[in-house]
Amino acid sequence: MNLCENINAIALVKKKISDKNLRYYVMTFGCQQNEADSEKIRGLCEEMGYIGADKPDDASLIIINTCAIRHHAEEKALSYVGTLKHLKEENPALIIGIGGCMSAEPSTVKKIKTSFRYVSFTFEPAKIHMLPTLVYQTLNTLHQREYLTIDDECPPIREDLPTVRLSGHRAWVSIMYGCNNFCSYCIVPYVRGRERSRASSEVLRECRELIEQGYKEITLLGQNVNSYRSDMDFADLLDAIASIDGEFWLRFMTSHPKDVPDKLIEVMARHRDKICPAFHLPLQSGSDRILRLMNRTYDRARYLSIVDKLRHAIPDIAITTDIIVAFPSETEEDFQGTLDVVERVGYDKVFPFIYSPREGTRAAKMPMDIPDATKADRMARLIAKINEGALACNDEYLDKTVRVLVDSDSREGKGHYLARTNTGKLVRIFTDGESPVGQFLNVKIQKTTPFDMFGAVMKEG
Ligand code: SAH
Ligand code: SF4
Ligand code: F3S
Repeated sequence: MNLCENINAIALVKKKISDKNLRYYVMTFGCQQNEADSEKIRGLCEEMGYIGADKPDDASLIIINTCAIRHHAEEKALSYVGTLKHLKEENPALIIGIGGCMSAEPSTVKKIKTSFRYVSFTFEPAKIHMLPTLVYQTLNTLHQREYLTIDDECPPIREDLPTVRLSGHRAWVSIMYGCNNFCSYCIVPYVRGRERSRASSEVLRECRELIEQGYKEITLLGQNVNSYRSDMDFADLLDAIASIDGEFWLRFMTSHPKDVPDKLIEVMARHRDKICPAFHLPLQSGSDRILRLMNRTYDRARYLSIVDKLRHAIPDIAITTDIIVAFPSETEEDFQGTLDVVERVGYDKVFPFIYSPREGTRAAKMPMDIPDATKADRMARLIAKINEGALACNDEYLDKTVRVLVDSDSREGKGHYLARTNTGKLVRIFTDGESPVGQFLNVKIQKTTPFDMFGAVMKEG
């Protein structure tokens, strides 16, 4: 069945399920964009009248928000869908829908239709607003098992979707969607479409409301946040948000090295009380030859010059990155180039990935010419290098007093909490009395490892 948007769908579902106390459960895989999208999915579920469930077993509606970035991510999501089969057998009225980036891959959708017949529908990230229509149609056709597809073309950005945020102090704010860069290995432009930026007035309105509601940290999201463009560029948007009154931290991710103008660095330095001194700047490779094959449009010298400028303007800045190991044709010399950049930059954190071919991308046509043993060996050497750098970075915090935002309880027990510095470092703290979750505290760092730090809470004032 093909669907067009049905603006009454929320009310229709609500009427159909009223007084039944039905529950929904959302499982999220993938990046922060998916986390943010899941908050909209939750919002729509609640508008339809469903109530949040703590586990899938209690739900009448289960939505899985999937990621397609690497083969492993897809496997994880599909194996999760597999674990839900018995729930559908026990409760034939259960509705299972699959959203996220895998739902925008025709071959995956075909596989879901044929191998996971208990799934009722799929919907691409750009079509989250269609969820109520899909749920309504499914409620009407449950026993016919008719697979649903959506007719609408990629619609304009929807500003009217409700949001149910999981945190009361940290908020995601998507400012742009999609990607135009077509890095040769990457599936994102195919599954998330072309770049679309939200109006600055909408972003500013959302940020103001969050700060008024007491949110302490806002993270601006986009596949390339710094390519944001509306009536303002990204630097002006950051400047405008950081100028809102209140005590809050502002973060953003992810940035492409091609769009880091001096103006952006100047705005970060000027608002250092609010804009966190942290920059995620994906390197991918330290070899110019591989960067060209990846279509990354910068070279190693340009990348290192941005790092120098950032460190010059904001000396305590934390720089983090993503690296792909074993891209097709990567030689030992290319890989040494990557190790060399990792050593020079001394990253605070690196997310390393082994290259995974994605159907439909340009790199997927390149020969897979690197033996598995070489891939594993390079990954192990890269991780060893990363840990050296991360320990050195964390050591610089020893005996210093830093401000942290307390995030959550820690599993270590009562009075133990997890907090983060404005540079994104994980700090473990202990304090008795009232829970400090969602508050800023000053702590003195007493011990560091490459992965975390331990801090003593200082008395305010
Ligand atoms: N938009 C962001 C990154 C999105 S994906 C950016 O441009 O930086 C997050 C990371 O996954 C990428 O930075 C890259 O390191 C990794 N990645 C993307 N496609 C991959 C693939 N096919 N195989 C392995 N890693 C991949
Ligand atoms: Fe993928 Fe490149 Fe776009 Fe990032 S910039 S999402 S790596 S295509
Ligand atoms: Fe995955 Fe889609 Fe994010 S592919 S990394 S969930 S944009």
